[in-house]
Amino acid sequence: MSTTDTTQPAETTPATGSRLAARDLTLAYEERTVVEGLDLDVPDGRVTVVVGPNACGKSTLLRALGRLLKPERGAVLLDGEQLARIPTRRIARSLGLLPQTPVAPEAVTVADLVSRGRQPHQRWWRQWSEEDERAVADAMARTDVAELADRPVDELSGGQRQRVWIAMALAQETDLLLLDEPTTYLDVSHQVEVLDLVRRLNHERGRTVVAVLHDLNQAARYADHLVAMKAGRVVAAGRPAEVVTADLVREVFGLESVVVPDPVTGGPLVVPGRPWGGATA
Ligand SMILES: Nc1ncnc2c1ncn2[C@@H]1O[C@H](COP(=O)(O)OP(=O)(O)OP(=O)(O)O)[C@@H](O)[C@H]1O
Ligand SMILES: [Mg+2]
Repeated sequence: MSTTDTTQPAETTPATGSRLAARDLTLAYEERTVVEGLDLDVPDGRVTVVVGPNACGKSTLLRALGRLLKPERGAVLLDGEQLARIPTRRIARSLGLLPQTPVAPEAVTVADLVSRGRQPHQRWWRQWSEEDERAVADAMARTDVAELADRPVDELSGGQRQRVWIAMALAQETDLLLLDEPTTYLDVSHQVEVLDLVRRLNHERGRTVVAVLHDLNQAARYADHLVAMKAGRVVAAGRPAEVVTADLVREVFGLESVVVPDPVTGGPLVVPGRPWGGATA
């Protein structure tokens, strides 16, 4: 486990484009509109983290970015093309999505499940290649699940299972990776490991990541680009150092806090509670 991957990129990092973007995106379940008129640019080769209170529409947004949910209005664009018009296989080779609560097929083993991440790369004339083998082994090693290869997924602990799902998403080897609360169920050391892994993928392989995280301090530490949502809208977006302020925490989470420099990264660290000697309720 290392903390060296948690540093923010240099201020001089040049601006990048956005292969993945949302324009005037409105998302609804039947009558209920959950996300309304949302615009989003996901910076290429960066880690974008989405934060916001429960039920504000984070997972709904991620599902739409992964084409699991059809927009009511507006569009998700991949390389400037409407996602709805791109063939599924092409999307699957560019974009991987780990949902918040994935469901494994019954009695599937760890190795089988991770291997399913390779499906978008297979063809009828080429079922399984050395490249697939390498990608699966690499994904399992990176998530520390190689030892579990022959175990049935439904017999694993919540944290082990979560790492297997992350391995499956990694095995897909897409340029864009969408992760909905990838640290759920993980103990603190595995949380840091998974977030460092995301950082490394990003630094070493130039992957673009969009992750929903609940812990605001982890979000501030790991994000290049932080998106704060409330009630289906983007309230603020930008570098954590610019976005994370006591005012924002109050506006988005309704929480009084003090924002101090993170002793490890120098970035913003949110300490819940009113400032000592500050105004009382
Ligand atoms: N399949 C569904 N059918 C109907 N309503 C849904 C469905 N999925 C989510 N919703 C509703 O949409 C709203 C947003 O849900 P969403 O899962 O996007 O929230 P979230 O921000 O991811 O919350 P959490 O932090 O709890 O994961 C909620 O009010 C939820 O009840
Ligand atoms: Mg969610």
